[in-house]
Amino acid sequence: MANKNPNVRTAIDIGLSEDERLKISQGLSGLLADSYTLYLMTHNFHWNVKGPMFNTLHVMFMEQYTEQWGALDLIAERIRALGHPAPGTYKEFVQLATIKEVDGVPKALEMIRYLVDAQEATARTARNLFPVVEAANDQPTADLLTQRLEVHEKTAWMLRSLLEE
Ligand SMILES: [Fe+2]
Repeated sequence: MANKNPNVRTAIDIGLSEDERLKISQGLSGLLADSYTLYLMTHNFHWNVKGPMFNTLHVMFMEQYTEQWGALDLIAERIRALGHPAPGTYKEFVQLATIKEVDGVPKALEMIRYLVDAQEATARTARNLFPVVEAANDQPTADLLTQRLEVHEKTAWMLRSLLEE
């Protein structure tokens, strides 16, 4: 709605169309939901991991969820800068995420497998949005997606390496 005060302009005019801003915000909302679900899974496993690899995994998971927590804010605030509300409830995250939550407490190696899958799923969600972002010439979102892809692909490799001989 237009603001009546002529000194206050609330419309967004950053060189992206309304349709582009909407499509990119929807894609980022999906990325936020996957990132949040991955964050929570990683923190959950930090709390509940057991076995001979306890110390390695407990510490490694903490480093991962700490980095992910920071990224949630960047993704949500990019959605806001594009003029849309950021999803912020578990209900929305469950609807939007491609990652399924894990029931119970898996064994340590299963935890690693779940995290590899979730890291890769988050990378795919980020990558799927790239063509839309590139076509719209939206460099800040492209930059954010590039950073997230780098982290998720690298972390997936590190986790995958724990499963190999
Ligand atoms: Fe802790």
